[in-house]
Amino acid sequence: MLTSLIGAISNDMTIDLGTANVVVSVKNRGIIINEPSVVAVQTSRNGRSKILAVGQEAKNMIGKTPGDIQAVRPMKDGVIADFDITEKMIRHFIQKAHGRKSLLRPRIIICVPYGLTQVERKAVRESALSAGAREVYLIEEPMAAGIGAGLPVQEPHGNLVVDIGGGTTEIGVISLGGLVVSKSIRVAGDKLDTAIIDYVKKKYNLLIGERTAEDIKIKAGSAVDTGEDLNMVIKGRDQISQLLVRVELAGDDVREAMKDPLKEMANALRSILEKTPPDLAGDIVENGVVLTGGGALIRGLDKYFSDIIKLPVYVSDEPLLAVAKGTAMALENIEIFKHLDNE
Ligand SMILES: Nc1ncnc2c1ncn2[C@@H]1O[C@H](COP(=O)(O)OP(=O)(O)OP(=O)(O)O)[C@@H](O)[C@H]1O
Ligand SMILES: [Mg+2]
Repeated sequence: MLTSLIGAISNDMTIDLGTANVVVSVKNRGIIINEPSVVAVQTSRNGRSKILAVGQEAKNMIGKTPGDIQAVRPMKDGVIADFDITEKMIRHFIQKAHGRKSLLRPRIIICVPYGLTQVERKAVRESALSAGAREVYLIEEPMAAGIGAGLPVQEPHGNLVVDIGGGTTEIGVISLGGLVVSKSIRVAGDKLDTAIIDYVKKKYNLLIGERTAEDIKIKAGSAVDTGEDLNMVIKGRDQISQLLVRVELAGDDVREAMKDPLKEMANALRSILEKTPPDLAGDIVENGVVLTGGGALIRGLDKYFSDIIKLPVYVSDEPLLAVAKGTAMALENIEIFKHLDNE
C-alpha cells in the first residue's frame, strides 16, 4: 500500500545516456528532454573549471569556442571519457527534469552501452545517486532498443536488434527477456564522421571539422546507391594554400568515405548471426533484423545489410528515440523492471 502510494507521487524517471544524445523521460509524462551529450566547460587561470552550458547550447559552441572554453563530450566511443563531467551532466538533466518541485527522490533507470566495464557502471550509478536518485537501475542498450522497437522481447522467440548510436553499434539477440548473444563495437556515427574528415582531407586536401562532417553524413551520406542526387557544396580550409574554399562533394564520395566503418558494422552483424543458436536463428530468418539509433537513418543502410546477410532488415519507427522509449517502457513494466541490475 505504502509502496504503491510512493510510486504514485514519486517522480521516477529514465535516462538514455547516449554518447551523442541524452534522452530523459519521467513517469506518466513521457519524453521531456532530448539534447546532445555536450558540456561547455570554462577553465580559469588557477585551473578551476566551471560549467557554462549543457546540451544543445553547449553543442552549438563546438569548434567555435575561445581558448578558455571547451565544448566537451564526456562520453566518447561508448565509454565515459570524463567521469567528473559525466556526473555533472547527469545531475543537470535530473534537476532539469524535476525542477524544485520534487517531493521524493526518484528511482531512475539509466540505459548504458552494453560494453561498459563494471567500474564505469558503478560510476554511472554513483553519479545518479549523488545527483539525488533514490535507487538506480541499469538497462543495457540492445535490450532497451529491442523493447523500444516494439519487439516481443519477453517471448521465447529470437529477436535481433542493431542499435547504431554515436559511439557504439550494439547488436543483440533477445529472447525471454534476456540477451542471448550480443556484441558492442566502437564503430558508429562518430567513426563515420571521422572517416568523412579523413577522406575529404586525402582526396580534396580540405580540412573540415566534426560538425561539418556530421552534416555531410546526414545530408549526403548513403550506404548503397539510392538513385537520389546527394551532391553538396562544402566549405573548409585548403591544406596547401590555407585559404577557405568551397568544394563540390558527390554523394558517391560520401558513400566511399564511409565504406570501411559500414563494413565493420556488417561484419559484426554477421558474426552475431553465426553465434546465434539455431532455433532463435530460425525466428530471425522469419522476422528479420531491426535497426535503431541515429545511424539507422543512413540512407539505404537497411538494404546494405540485407544484401550482405541475405535477411530482411527494417528501420524502427523513430530510431533516434527507440532506446529512450524502451527504457521508459521498462519503468512501466514490472516484469522487465524486476530483472534490472541495481547492485
Ligand atoms: N539522418 C541521419 N543520418 C545519419 N546519421 C544520423 C542521422 N541523424 C542522426 N544521426 C547520427 O546518429 C548518431 C546519434 O544517434 P543516437 O542518438 O542514437 O546515439 P547515442 O544513443 O547518443 O549514442 P550511443 O548509443 O552510441 O551511446 C550521431 O552520430 C548522428 O550523427
Ligand atoms: Mg544510444
